[in-house]
Amino acid sequence: MKLLFIGDVVGQPGRRGVRELLPALRQRHGIDLVVANGENSAGGSGITVKTAEEIFLAGVDIITSGDHLWDQKEVMGLLENEKRFLRPLNYPAGTPGQGSTIFRNRNLAAVAIINLQGRTFMPPLENPFHSAKAEVERLRAVTKIIFIDFHAEATSEKIALARMLDGSISALVGTHTHVQTADEQIFPGGTAFLCDAGFTGPHESVLGREIDPIIKRFLTSQPQKFEVAAGTILLQGALIDIDDATGKARNIQRISEALPPPTTAP
Ligand SMILES: [Fe+2]
Ligand SMILES: [Fe+2]
Repeated sequence: MKLLFIGDVVGQPGRRGVRELLPALRQRHGIDLVVANGENSAGGSGITVKTAEEIFLAGVDIITSGDHLWDQKEVMGLLENEKRFLRPLNYPAGTPGQGSTIFRNRNLAAVAIINLQGRTFMPPLENPFHSAKAEVERLRAVTKIIFIDFHAEATSEKIALARMLDGSISALVGTHTHVQTADEQIFPGGTAFLCDAGFTGPHESVLGREIDPIIKRFLTSQPQKFEVAAGTILLQGALIDIDDATGKARNIQRISEALPPPTTAP
C-alpha cells in the first residue's frame, strides 16, 4: 500500500495547496491513504473544525497535530468528536482526544497511525520513547502496518526514536521544523524514515509567515504580528510504499510539489 504523508499545512494557502494538488498526486502515484499534519491550518496557528473539514474534503484521511494544538479553542470539537483527528499521544493521562488510531477502510489492510511530540527544545510532555514503545507493542497485536508522525524540533530525538523502533513500525516521518530534510532512507529493519516532511503552504516566507515582521523581530527583539505569507505554494511530504504482508517499507520518496501560478487571462 502507498501512504502519503503531508507536512504541516499552513493557513489558507496550505489548505488550498492540499485541495488543488492532492487529487493529481493520488492518481499519479496510486496513493491508498493520506495523513496530514494540520496543526497550523487555521491562520497559521492551530486547527478548527472548519479547517479540518476542508482538509478531509480535499482527500486527507487522518489529521495529526503538534505543539500548536491548543491555539484555537475550537480544537475541543475535534478532540472530543473527531475520530480522524490525532493529538500527540504523550500528553498527560486524561487529556481529551486520542494519540493513535487504526484506519480500516476501502479494502485496505488495517493501518495504525500514531502522533507523538518531542521534548527537546519543546514544552515538556511525557517521555515519547516510552509512550511509543508501549503503543507500538499494543498496536502490533492488531496490525504490522504502523505510521508515526513525530512532531519534534531536534533531529537527534527524531532519528533516535525512529532507530529505536526500526523493524517494529513501517515508517516514521518528522514534522514541526517546516524545513524538509534530505535524509529519506530505509533502516536495516525495514522502517522508512525522513527527519522532517517540510510544510505545505507559502514558501516565499519564513516557515510560512511573512518575511519582514520576522526579520524585524530578530532585529528588535520586540513582538510582531506574524501573518501567513503569500506566494509560491508547495505541498511537501513523503510517499511511502509499504509491504502489506510484513509491514516493512519498500520505498520512501520526498514530495515537494508546486501549485502552478494562476494563468492570467489574455
Ligand atoms: Fe509545531
Ligand atoms: Fe508546524
